[in-house]
Amino acid sequence: MDDELRVRNHQTPMSFQPLPGFRDFYPDDCALRNYVFGKWRDAARRYGFREYDGPPLEPLELYTVKSGDEIVGQLYNFTDKGKRAVSLRPELTPTFARMVGARQRDYKKPMKWFAIPQLFRYERQQRGRLREHFQFNADIVGEKDVAADAELVALLVDLLRSFGLTHEDFVVRVSDRRVWSGFLRGLGIAEEQHPAVFGIVDKIERDEPMVTQKKFDALGVSAGAASAILKFADTGTFEKEAPAEMATLQRFFDLMAHKGLGDFLKFDPKIVRGLAYYTGIVFEAFDKKGELRAIAGGGRYDNLLQLISGVDMPALGFGMGDVVLCELLKERNLLPKLENRLDAYVVIAKEELRPQALKLVRELREAGLACDYPLIGAKVGKQFEAASAGGAKFAVVIGDEWAQGQATVKTLATREENKVEVARLVERLKQG
Ligand code: HAM
Repeated sequence: MDDELRVRNHQTPMSFQPLPGFRDFYPDDCALRNYVFGKWRDAARRYGFREYDGPPLEPLELYTVKSGDEIVGQLYNFTDKGKRAVSLRPELTPTFARMVGARQRDYKKPMKWFAIPQLFRYERQQRGRLREHFQFNADIVGEKDVAADAELVALLVDLLRSFGLTHEDFVVRVSDRRVWSGFLRGLGIAEEQHPAVFGIVDKIERDEPMVTQKKFDALGVSAGAASAILKFADTGTFEKEAPAEMATLQRFFDLMAHKGLGDFLKFDPKIVRGLAYYTGIVFEAFDKKGELRAIAGGGRYDNLLQLISGVDMPALGFGMGDVVLCELLKERNLLPKLENRLDAYVVIAKEELRPQALKLVRELREAGLACDYPLIGAKVGKQFEAASAGGAKFAVVIGDEWAQGQATVKTLATREENKVEVARLVERLKQG
């Protein structure tokens, strides 16, 4: 029988797999995801950020305006049934810029918002890179001063610390596109060429030196200028005097030192970021061993709101993905044990007491306890197995003693058991 016929006749099940780069989240995976989201939300709350979200599908143009060629080449885009060119969101920043532009009058500045979107990028699959991921985003709008950049990077550091990571595990590499522009101007490289130079610098660590050289040649950058650029990228030192823009970056480092977080940072001009819209301080967090891709990245983008929504307001933000973060936590043994935990499992030892058991289960649940029971009659031993599998703290046995208004409460970890008045069960179970 050919495959098609077999499928039509439903004789063999089809073996569906998730698409490459997409994940199934089984309950343990979801428990980990909720743990990560919980830490993200908690750190954002401590820093005074408010949660928002946007649509997962957006007009294609939103991303072609200013995100840059790399991300545009990775879009999951298509034409919808209304003949609109649309794309799944590869990042949240353009949506954020659109939303803020539309309603910014309703909010006091600076606005501090965060979100946890699922994002989609048709990337070449490799370690730490999938075709969907969840990304914590924190952004600030309406503050030009570098104090906002320091606040944002402090949030990034504290987020990573809240998972148990220390300055021995990660480093935030910081640079500044304005410093770069000042430096490039000093080399006589025209302003229009700066984005292309950033594109080359962004790939320096991944490209072979010959490839980098060829890219500089193609751009018409002289050999002398190219070697000065490479030297600056590598060492952070200037051949001539430092550009005036260094003063702002220095103030950023001073503020971070005042916050007690200086140890987590490193000035590294190789960080310019791959996205086209950044205009100022930019940064990426990496594992210190340098084995993984970036854990997080962001920076200042003072022109994007103007471009997307016509509202001229300074903005800055960063994104942290769940994939690399969880890999790092796993490597450092920092993944928590996340157990399925019931407060109580009601064991129905006498099937004729099922009506009373059902009423009891409802009462326990109404009292806020996590409670389960066998849906159909089963041997008591099997019911205890189900109680353990559910991580139940107590088994509440409904049996002979029910006639005296009592149930047996067994603490599963210690095997200790006591008879408890049914009227006092909730109170007893809540004592823990
Ligand atoms: P990004 O550098 O493209 O920035 O992404 C931020 C982080 O998201 C990365 O460092 C990485 O952890 C994670 N990430 C990105 N792509 C993938 C992928 N394919 N698989 C797994 N993880 C991934 C942005 O998206 C900016 N919009 C961030 C931002 C917010 N800038 C300002 N505000």
